[in-house]
Amino acid sequence: MNTLRAGALQLEPLLASHAAAMFAVLSDPAIYEFENEPPRSIAWLRERYTQLESRASPDGSQTWLNWVVKLPGGGFAGYMQATVLAGGRAYVAYELASRFWRQGIGSASVQAVLQELAAHYSVRDAFAVLKAANYRSRALLHKLEFREVVPPARAPWPAEPDELTLGKALVQRKNAA
Ligand SMILES: CC(C)(COP(=O)(O)OP(=O)(O)OC[C@H]1O[C@@H](n2cnc3c(N)ncnc32)[C@H](O)[C@@H]1OP(=O)(O)O)[C@@H](O)C(=O)NCCC(=O)NCCS
Repeated sequence: MNTLRAGALQLEPLLASHAAAMFAVLSDPAIYEFENEPPRSIAWLRERYTQLESRASPDGSQTWLNWVVKLPGGGFAGYMQATVLAGGRAYVAYELASRFWRQGIGSASVQAVLQELAAHYSVRDAFAVLKAANYRSRALLHKLEFREVVPPARAPWPAEPDELTLGKALVQRKNAA
């Protein structure tokens, strides 16, 4: 799994050793306005990150990729996640602490992940599932030219009634390093 660059940002493969620093980042309640909740403890997060170091779902059918978003000064802004499915498809997800929002960090980091998925994981179609009310995530995805998957049955997984699935075809670059 590669370390990625997004301008001055570095996306490092997530490790159990990131748990303490990421616990502070992910304890920001603003992140969870629409869904999910903060991690319970550093120990809980370390256990979760230890499992994620396998980079695979328990049944081995999916590749699970997670990167921490490292700032030029050395701190962490949040993380990026990709779930790679069979058939050249992947879901992306992301969380940043609110003090880093609206600085282009989210869109630059997701773009770097999409390029990596196309170049090294043979992904042709990227998807994101989000709460329909999550206008921040929607704005990010629209900027990156994700569009609503219509009909929703074309998405790999069904979404909940209050969710949307957005998708984007990725450009396959020949001879990608
Ligand atoms: C979604 C999230 C990652 C966006 O990250 P970000 O770094 O603020 O995004 P960017 O700065 O790259 O912004 C991307 C685009 O979205 C727009 N945008 C971001 N927040 C916005 C807001 N509050 N209102 C309107 N537009 C917004 C930006 O203006 C930008 O478009 P532009 O370049 O045309 O101006 C961040 O808000 C976040 O972590 N939210 C909490 C977790 C979450 O909701 N994750 C997604 C679950 S599906």
